[in-house]
Amino acid sequence: MGLLNQTVVVLNSTEVAKEAMVAKYLSISTRKLPKSLSVISRDKSMIALSDFGDFHKTAKRNLMLGMLGFSAQKQSRHTRDTMVSNMLSTLHELVADDPQAALNFRNVFRDELFRLSMIESLGEDVSSVFVDEFGRDISKEEIYNLIVEDMMKCAIEVDWRDFFPYLGWVPNKSFEERVHSTVGRRNAVMQAIFNKQKERIARGETRMSYLDFLLASESTLTDEQVTLLVWEAVIEAADTTLVTAEWAMYELAKNPEKQERLYQEIREVCGDEAVTEEHLRRLPYLNAVFHETLRRHSAVPLLPPRFVHEDTILAGYDIPAGTEMIVNVYGCNMNDEEWDSPHEWAPERFLDGRFKEENMYKTLAFGAGRRVCAGAMLATTISCISIARFVQEFGWRLRDGDEDNVDTVQLTAYKLHPLQVHLTPREKIV
Ligand code: HEM
Repeated sequence: MGLLNQTVVVLNSTEVAKEAMVAKYLSISTRKLPKSLSVISRDKSMIALSDFGDFHKTAKRNLMLGMLGFSAQKQSRHTRDTMVSNMLSTLHELVADDPQAALNFRNVFRDELFRLSMIESLGEDVSSVFVDEFGRDISKEEIYNLIVEDMMKCAIEVDWRDFFPYLGWVPNKSFEERVHSTVGRRNAVMQAIFNKQKERIARGETRMSYLDFLLASESTLTDEQVTLLVWEAVIEAADTTLVTAEWAMYELAKNPEKQERLYQEIREVCGDEAVTEEHLRRLPYLNAVFHETLRRHSAVPLLPPRFVHEDTILAGYDIPAGTEMIVNVYGCNMNDEEWDSPHEWAPERFLDGRFKEENMYKTLAFGAGRRVCAGAMLATTISCISIARFVQEFGWRLRDGDEDNVDTVQLTAYKLHPLQVHLTPREKIV
């Protein structure tokens, strides 16, 4: 498609998207960012929005070593277990308080996921912090709003000059003020949190966290760079997993026979024992529920735009340098040449023998190739263990009239209407 003076190629086929992201990566590995994302990322100083090169390679390796890789995740097992048991306790309390009322699932999951993302990224579940620029303490809820929610909205602020680059000199004051003031508030809060954690580390209280790892490594990063990288981990860990878990529970609550199939699988494998991470590999239907949710409700429906920086060939077509490339994950997953009845949420499609485990990534929900999501293992573990424990402890039913509430909102595909469910406790699990 030709957009004014910019050629944009949108990829709606999984095979071609994979060719672009894996085989042709070296020709299509830079990012082209709209103004809002340039300001948020301090001109590509975040992993997800950087160009391929030394910064990307080193920063991603540090994130894996310090937080998301296998051995870091092994050490943070207790944090994940606490997250799940806190959510279950809260759900039991809410049901006991008012057994007839529908409850808001998102609030429960969001609070605990944010807690986990702060502990793994910063070393502490920060409950409040004094911010110099505001002249006062701010609560955890305000911290969440300022560093996660406002920033997700800011990321989709549109500057019309992005579409007319040759008019870039024309002022667009209201856009600039909005974006700079939102980013300024994020910086102030993150700076305050960073300083507090640095004092903790200086007192000798080191912990297992990404921030502790970065500050202990012999890196040449400035405090400002470290703060931005740690913020990136907080927001990425606190957002897309919530989107996915909410859609999974919506579908299970809407489809009682599929919920029952999952419950029976859990009973067969775990008996009366609570599901643990060790059980996950033995629960194929659970795995299918997760991947089908990623397919039908991809949390990132459009991957961050890529830029072709040298002439290349894709699916047999010449693609000149300078072309912008957008991978439409939603389009790939709704393509009826690749998926039977793509609009239907049907976990069984992954169990008919045609898919091997590695082919589950065909949904492209985590991207592919060298830019593949760094947090896929954490997201998979948290989502699967939470879904399994939710279904093991409760029967789930949608609030009447919510069956067709499938609209989305924001950059990551949040349910427009937060999931409201009725829960019925099952027999006690040991
Ligand atoms: C279900 C949950 C998640 C989904 C669906 C998801 C999806 C994605 C997608 C589509 C990308 C872009 C890949 C590309 O541009 O090709 C990405 C990148 C990334 N994600 Fe996730 N993500 C999830 C959870 C997480 C978590 C928990 C973290 C933890 C901090 C995380 C950290 C990252 C990072 C650092 C990148 C940039 C990788 C790079 O550019 O090399 N993600 N993710």
